[in-house]
Amino acid sequence: MNILEISDLTVRFAEFLAVKDLNLSVKRGEILGLLGPNGAGKTTTIRAIFGMVPYEGEIRNYASSVGWMPQHSPLYLNLTVEENLRFFASLHGLKNPKERVEEMLRLVQLEESRNRLVRNLSGGMKQRAMLACAMIHDPELLILDEPTAGVDPPLRMNFWEHFQRLKDAGKTILVTTHYMDEAERCERIVMMRAGEKIAEGSPEEIKRFAGEETVMLWVEDMKGSFRILSKYYDVSLNGQISISVKDAPSELPKIISILEKAGIKVLKSEIKRPSLEDVFLRLMEE
Ligand SMILES: Nc1ncnc2c1ncn2[C@@H]1O[C@H](COP(=O)(O)OP(=O)(O)OP(=O)(O)O)[C@@H](O)[C@H]1O
Ligand SMILES: [Mg+2]
Repeated sequence: MNILEISDLTVRFAEFLAVKDLNLSVKRGEILGLLGPNGAGKTTTIRAIFGMVPYEGEIRNYASSVGWMPQHSPLYLNLTVEENLRFFASLHGLKNPKERVEEMLRLVQLEESRNRLVRNLSGGMKQRAMLACAMIHDPELLILDEPTAGVDPPLRMNFWEHFQRLKDAGKTILVTTHYMDEAERCERIVMMRAGEKIAEGSPEEIKRFAGEETVMLWVEDMKGSFRILSKYYDVSLNGQISISVKDAPSELPKIISILEKAGIKVLKSEIKRPSLEDVFLRLMEE
């Protein structure tokens, strides 16, 4: 069941098409990662969801409440962290926000900075305060635009552990990121480039769909093996034998049997799959 459905979304800025015919749905209860290089149209898509840019197409939102952490700070610079949280709580009509404000301060580890003006916070601290404000009303759907940009590694981990907990509690998250380790933690990924969707699937599916895999072999007769396998495969020799294939687990037994028939013993074999980063870079080059 979808919580958000975007159909044929197009966003123009004068002649420029920032988003082109985008179809994207977010399933209830998932963490969906929206990936793409700078200028791909991620933020514009999100801004369309909130009606901040004129668009063509249709956006259907079935969430009862939505939290939004924009890419650029919506916080009041001349208010303290706590005052900002209280302000966002009142925007959402929270009756007794005190406890929730405390909970959020704890979550983003800003309890000790609660009385500092947002203007004086470091970049990562501002980011943390923004996340707290986006979540203050415990929304069903959370839309986060680069929530961890500028956040230090341990806290980045904390953020993701919290996202996982929210997901386990039945919430839905749409998140953009440039970090591939974060993308790996999403159940599904949508990759955009120049306003268009270029790939969609689980991290595993995307790796399989876009990347060649490599079978690596250590054999007794390197040169002989190279000669034989080159008849069938794209092979290179670099300390071991590397063979590029689409589906390594199914090719490996075939490769071994070709060599065994030629009387060559395979000492060791390994399969190397492309990382999400490899796939991302490859898709961006095409
Ligand atoms: N208000 C605007 N007027 C004109 N062009 C715009 C406007 N907002 C965005 N754009 C352009 O639309 C394109 C997509 O921008 P967008 O901010 O959606 O990219 P993004 O994928 O979020 O990139 P990043 O990873 O840098 O945040 C860019 O070329 C940008 O310059
Ligand atoms: Mg952006």
